[in-house]
Amino acid sequence: MTEHDPHAVLPIGDFAARAGLATSAVRYYESLGLVSSVRTAGNQRRYRRAELRRVAFIRAARSVGLSLDEVKAALDRLPGGRVPDRADWTRLSGEWRERIEQRIAALRELKDDLDSCVGCGCLSIDKCSIYNREDKLAAEGPGSHLGFKPL
Ligand code: FES
Repeated sequence: MTEHDPHAVLPIGDFAARAGLATSAVRYYESLGLVSSVRTAGNQRRYRRAELRRVAFIRAARSVGLSLDEVKAALDRLPGGRVPDRADWTRLSGEWRERIEQRIAALRELKDDLDSCVGCGCLSIDKCSIYNREDKLAAEGPGSHLGFKPL
């Protein structure tokens, strides 16, 4: 095995250090099925070096606002639990771009609504679209209108 062999395995401390995570975060990600390890005869965790790419994918997805559930759903769509390759990244990042566009549009709408509140302070249930934002969205029908999901 070489330094860059993707099949090389690392103990959790080394894996966490290379991934830029705390060991507790690695264990948490593993408990969610986001990364996987093998066990030694002494029941110690060992992580394939290739799993580092899954961590990079998770961190990138989190940085654009995806929840861990959404990250898991994306990773679960990869055949055989393999690590995401360049084509996967291209496809998924395209989907995320659309999501970011939706968030920008929603924030622009929020900013426009806030502009009408500047200097007002009425907080009127009839007039103020910031105060009454949920009712305004509810009038548009069920489901998410802003493209936000809780993180
Ligand atoms: S505070 Fe008056 S319109 Fe929002």
